[in-house]
Amino acid sequence: MLRCRKRDLWIAVPFLIMLYVQVHNWITQLPPPAPLELPTDRCKFKIVNDTITALKYNKTFIISSYHDNREQNLTRVIAIVDYKKVEDLYCWFCCSLDGRISIQRAAIAIHPDRVGSILGAAEIVCLEPQICYPKYVAIHSSPKGQAEELPRFEIQNRLPQFPFSAEFTLCLSVMSGNYSNVLQFIQSMEIYKILGAQKVVIYLHNCSQLMEQVLNLYVAEGTVDVIPWPIVSYINFSSFWYSHKDWLYGKATVLNDCIYRNMYRSKYVVLNDIDEIILPIQHPSWGKMISSLVERNPEAGIFVFENNFFPQNVFSSIDDEFDISLWKTVPGTNILQHIYKEPSKLWLRNPRRMIVNPRKVVQTSSSYILRGYSRTLEVPRDIGILYNCRGHHKEETPDRYLIRDTAILRFGKSLVNKVNEVLVKLFVEKSVKTGWNTYLERFARILK
Ligand SMILES: *[C@@H]1O[C@H](CO)[C@@H](O)[C@H](O)[C@H]1NC(C)=O
Ligand SMILES: *[C@@H]1O[C@H](CO)[C@@H](O)[C@H](O)[C@H]1NC(C)=O
Ligand SMILES: *[C@@H]1O[C@H](CO)[C@@H](O)[C@H](O)[C@H]1NC(C)=O
Ligand SMILES: *[C@@H]1O[C@H](CO)[C@@H](O)[C@H](O)[C@H]1NC(C)=O
Ligand SMILES: *[C@@H]1O[C@H](CO)[C@@H](O)[C@H](O)[C@H]1NC(C)=O
Ligand SMILES: *[C@@H]1O[C@H](CO)[C@@H](O)[C@H](O)[C@H]1NC(C)=O
Repeated sequence: MLRCRKRDLWIAVPFLIMLYVQVHNWITQLPPPAPLELPTDRCKFKIVNDTITALKYNKTFIISSYHDNREQNLTRVIAIVDYKKVEDLYCWFCCSLDGRISIQRAAIAIHPDRVGSILGAAEIVCLEPQICYPKYVAIHSSPKGQAEELPRFEIQNRLPQFPFSAEFTLCLSVMSGNYSNVLQFIQSMEIYKILGAQKVVIYLHNCSQLMEQVLNLYVAEGTVDVIPWPIVSYINFSSFWYSHKDWLYGKATVLNDCIYRNMYRSKYVVLNDIDEIILPIQHPSWGKMISSLVERNPEAGIFVFENNFFPQNVFSSIDDEFDISLWKTVPGTNILQHIYKEPSKLWLRNPRRMIVNPRKVVQTSSSYILRGYSRTLEVPRDIGILYNCRGHHKEETPDRYLIRDTAILRFGKSLVNKVNEVLVKLFVEKSVKTGWNTYLERFARILK
């Protein structure tokens, strides 16, 4: 019979700690390349095209894979992992040169800023084998098995495209909870466009019907890319462990995917939430603001903006100029009526947001860059702020402490026309679709 004495424990415990550290190092560090090569013509995995793919046992979910040659020739797979159960993973590369399969052990970089849940954003990183030029990769928990059964993912960003197709791309993370704040969304979209956004990427979990029609308008216009994000089909949010309020439907994962997706398409990527706007204070656009910042700080590639919280339950009293009757027919908040902000609370974790050069980013969270290649510049508040207009906190700030800040009104006049144009399009389309003329009539009355 196996017995364990106290003395044995003294030996076993340090040994176990060492073993743990060693295993941990294996997991978090790149192993040396030791390709295991199989005979040719085995590369017949099925190609998958879904935004989320569950691997066997539902412990690892693959989003996308990207080539990254900034340090070494790597394939970086954006994923969600159950970080308590994550095991060894292997990249099965499909060499485009000769159709052979080359298998590499993966390093798993789990993001440190996971909150609450046991699922976290992660990157599965593999060194690409030499003389292989893989176009596809599959992820498997073993270096053995049947290749035909594995889903494979296209390795994107292999051929960086220049020049950029956009100067500024905005990554808005996940739209969820039947999102229905239509007016604020349209206002924000029109300000983003005024400020220089050429593309806005939205990962859509779900939203109201009217919101869906608005999204369709912007997709048709070419401004918005909607990426379906059916996360609830893969992860059981009713279970105790997945505290989705903290996890925000995988926000950290989509932001990293968005950075890599736009690495060679966009000169800059703007990272802010759906109810936020990074507002230049002196310049008319993000472009002018960033070039003036770069002029003075040539080595900066990451620009961080301080949060300013404008509670939705505090209205402007004097500036009724923007209390527009047509807008009252649209569900949502009119941001032009919210010009009182809370003083910054130093003891609260302030949700700062960023404009980044995506080629300088390796790994990001929503408020700061976790790994990157460039200096971070804290943008002074007289150059730019984060305008954040959302429901109020639990402890309200008494009115006498609120600060009037009209930075948003600088865009008010041009915003009114642009928002009205969108509403006309929306209502015309709606009435054509439903044959329901009330909107048109209401509209005719307003235009009279
Ligand atoms: C993947 O999806 C895109 C767009 O939805 C489509 O154009 C493409 O043909 C699909 N590829 C495969 C292999 O299904
Ligand atoms: C993985 O999740 C899917 C959908 O939730 C479920 O149908 C399937 O049985 C699960 N597989 C395992 C091995 O748990
Ligand atoms: C990546 O591979 C290419 C082609 O083999 C090679 O020319 C290049 O130097 C490699 N890049 C890095 C960073 O190792
Ligand atoms: C979203 O809409 C569905 C169906 O319309 C409803 O059952 C659900 O309660 C709504 N959820 C939220 C968070 O509002
Ligand atoms: C939106 O998602 C929530 C949370 O998963 C769900 O309760 C609701 O029913 C969904 N609404 C619709 C319209 O699908
Ligand atoms: C989700 O988790 C809850 C609690 O653990 C469980 O009762 C429920 O059956 C699960 N639902 C699915 C679809 O797996």
